[in-house]
Amino acid sequence: ALISLRQLLDHAAEHGYGLPAFNVNNMEQIKAIMEAAAAVDAPVILQGSAGARTYAGEPFLRHLVLAAIEMYPHLPVCMHQDHGASPAVCIRSIQSGFSSVMMDGSLLEDMKTPASYAYNVETTRKVVEMAHACGVSVEGELGCLGSLETGRAGKEDGHGAEGELDPSLLLTDPDEAADFVRQTQVDALAIAIGTSHGAYKFTRKPTGQVLRIDRVKAIHQRIPTIHLVMHGSSSVPEDWAQMINDYGGDIGQTYGVPVEEIVEGIRHGVRKVNIDTDLRIASYGAMRKFMVEDRKNFDPRKLYKAAQTAMTAICRARYEAFGAAGQA
Ligand code: G3H
Ligand code: 13P
Ligand code: NA
Ligand code: ZN
Repeated sequence: ALISLRQLLDHAAEHGYGLPAFNVNNMEQIKAIMEAAAAVDAPVILQGSAGARTYAGEPFLRHLVLAAIEMYPHLPVCMHQDHGASPAVCIRSIQSGFSSVMMDGSLLEDMKTPASYAYNVETTRKVVEMAHACGVSVEGELGCLGSLETGRAGKEDGHGAEGELDPSLLLTDPDEAADFVRQTQVDALAIAIGTSHGAYKFTRKPTGQVLRIDRVKAIHQRIPTIHLVMHGSSSVPEDWAQMINDYGGDIGQTYGVPVEEIVEGIRHGVRKVNIDTDLRIASYGAMRKFMVEDRKNFDPRKLYKAAQTAMTAICRARYEAFGAAGQA
């Protein structure tokens, strides 16, 4: 059944677990996630970015999610719009049937320029008013995702602020977070703690200096009832990246967010964990391997199936690690 983000995260908070929120663009990704969730009995968050809506088109995206709900009637599914750039984008998603939207007012509508605090409060509050009138949840974001190693946003996938950022923007301030939640009444709050989008997050295994889980704790202590969201939370598993390289690809040396650090965040109020890159890397590695190893095949379904199997393995591992297994 379709369910709001708020309902899912309230349950997660009550029972002390976190939910991975996987980005989806096509049928294979959605089937991979649903298969994993069904295998371990976990609630589901499927999220579509602006890029996903451009790729698949809004009707396809919507009908794919509805098909997933029809195929797995016993699983609660939240259909979430990721990184809305404006109230207009969020309203269109509400009309389209999403049960949750993210108003990302940490950046201006170009999604590259850091926005003022006043702009963020104003646009987010506007979306909350409209969304709540429709029973739809809202995620807000305070602070800009970006690397504390370089002072830059993770830019290689075209997401996030451009150039060097004011360092104070890279870490969400607990007092400001409390004020933001009070003024906007968001259901969930995405925070900046040193993670960034894409595959290239850290140049070495992250220490507490560049991945500030301590900041999660400080924010949670300040506002214990708000559901916290970690973006840029792919772990970029070395074996999957290596598989891409073993079969002719070229992924640079890189480190993601270790699963055990996410689990530590979940102990301190993180309830939604955004993951896109891990499914890209796993599916890509599996497809490269399949194409090299089975050169006689020309049935694309076998290729897509290999991708799906790889993604299911990642999803299942995250559901289990985050404590979401058995919670549907
Ligand atoms: O917000 C970032 C997600 O990884 C979505 O990326 O816009 O390329 O679909 P995308
Ligand atoms: P990753 O690039 O780490 O998978 O993050 C995805 C994300 O935050 C989507 O909003
Ligand atoms: Na989101
Ligand atoms: Zn994100």
